Amino acid sequence: MTAAQPTDISATDSPAWAALHTHFGTMSAVHLRELFAQDPARGSELTLQAADLYVDYSKHRVTRETLGLLQELTSAAGLRAKIDAMFSGVHINSTENRAVLHTALRLPSDAQLVVDGQDVVADVHEVLDRMSGFADRIRSGEWTGATGERITTVVNVGIGGSDLGPVMAYEALKDYSDRGITCRFVSNIDPTDIYEKTHDLDPASTLFIIASKTFTTLETLTNARLARDWLTGGLTTKHGLSADDATAAVAKHFVAVSTNADKVSEFGIDTANMFGFWDWVGGRYSYDSAIGLSVMVAIGPDNFREMLAGFHAMDEHFRTAPFEVNAPVILGLLNVWYGDFFGSGSHAVLPYSQYLLRFPAYLQQLTMESNGKSVRLDGSPVLADTGEVFWGEPGTNGQHAFYQLLHQGTRIIPADFIGFVEPNHDLHDGDADVHDLFMSNFFAQSTALAFGRTAEEIAAEGVAPEVVPHKVMPGNRPSTSILAQKLTPSVLGQLVALYEHITFVQGVIWGINSFDQWGVELGKAMAKELAPMLSGETSTDGQDSSTATLIGHYLQGRGR
Ligand code: F6P
Repeated sequence: MTAAQPTDISATDSPAWAALHTHFGTMSAVHLRELFAQDPARGSELTLQAADLYVDYSKHRVTRETLGLLQELTSAAGLRAKIDAMFSGVHINSTENRAVLHTALRLPSDAQLVVDGQDVVADVHEVLDRMSGFADRIRSGEWTGATGERITTVVNVGIGGSDLGPVMAYEALKDYSDRGITCRFVSNIDPTDIYEKTHDLDPASTLFIIASKTFTTLETLTNARLARDWLTGGLTTKHGLSADDATAAVAKHFVAVSTNADKVSEFGIDTANMFGFWDWVGGRYSYDSAIGLSVMVAIGPDNFREMLAGFHAMDEHFRTAPFEVNAPVILGLLNVWYGDFFGSGSHAVLPYSQYLLRFPAYLQQLTMESNGKSVRLDGSPVLADTGEVFWGEPGTNGQHAFYQLLHQGTRIIPADFIGFVEPNHDLHDGDADVHDLFMSNFFAQSTALAFGRTAEEIAAEGVAPEVVPHKVMPGNRPSTSILAQKLTPSVLGQLVALYEHITFVQGVIWGINSFDQWGVELGKAMAKELAPMLSGETSTDGQDSSTATLIGHYLQGRGR
């Protein structure tokens, strides 16, 4: 389906945007303390249920009027039509003339979606079934390495979307994984990465998954060649295989995940051992495709499918819930409110689960590669700031590091608190339930950020007058609290889909293409151009004086 996409408009030049500007003039001076005093029901009413996620957005610097005005942006931007266009396979990634169909990766097998003449659901489930068969063979020990040993380590070699999603989900769902199989992730072309991830492994029990949508990415292809040399070298020296047998062993120790079968076979991986996906899956939206093969091997096909069902539940919420109770819509609009009206350039993501350690890093690519854009769909400059710097660390570690700035710094940084009612591990310290101790921090932090502590309250505690200003907690710092029963594969899928759709909503409001990433290309091309200068093959003549001098220092240090 290549029908023209809905009119390329953005909400940033609409009357609704202007009305929000006027409204901001009033709201910027209003404190959350007043908002809660005036509207005591907001704590239970400015909340919603999105699949299994309970979302509380009451601690935001908004009134019901603000929310109404923000909602008007959705009509100005044509959000409903754009959602329908995305889900139905219209080529909304206009600069690459591609459909954007990560939502199809999690459609149930009895769903129907034909795009560009192709039965997308059948294609997705054919690959899922092959992945499941493969994962089962690895997990059961039926698939062995060349010397007959069971595979105990899976090394995923990929970068960007071919790394961040799998490593995040592997860490997040470790509690559901087969502990007899460990996954490692090599991404950086810094040789220390592959060295550290392989030096203590036995090649006989190691499987490499080379994950690259394009199969042309310099980092991944370089690491894949290093991995192949490590494998063949190790099988020869440690296990006594002949050079020919070691080369043949690559078939038992390497599989590929890609959209590019030609490049996979050119590399030397049999396409029978390749798991495909499609150009309508963006790299940063791909870990629920075959790119998640390492995750499926770790947690098993059933858990992986449960994760997909979680994604789908959030997709359905986004597609069908009225915008007034639609989590991605409301949270996307709130991000626009802070970024464009309060001037917040950043957004903290604070998971209260150590298993979600890599979630903020994953979100960095999802949100910043998607929405770090300066022109609208028609090529005209954007009329408002786009994107935010996403960052964060799990609580409570972050509390002892950067929360000071959140609480008392001069900047307003909206924060997302993500917590779980039930622990994955129910441990007690004497009589104390440690998860309760942990979660008391989750509840305390958003409360302290919102309401703070006044000078009067602090003085009343007998604090010396000269110290009072230092102890004042201004409050009025906005946050969303997302609470789920337990971190399960389904809940992880729901969380990821939630942020995918928040990102989309923001992009639609700004009128940008959230699905291309031309900004990463120039640096890649320049690195290729500079590489021969570092080996001394070509001179730095013609480079700017800073770069030429820096390379001169490097060459001197390397004795070239
Ligand atoms: O750095 C840009 C990028 O294209 C990302 O969008 C992508 O996730 C990553 O490189 C890896 O690409 P590939 O999967 O094709 O190796």
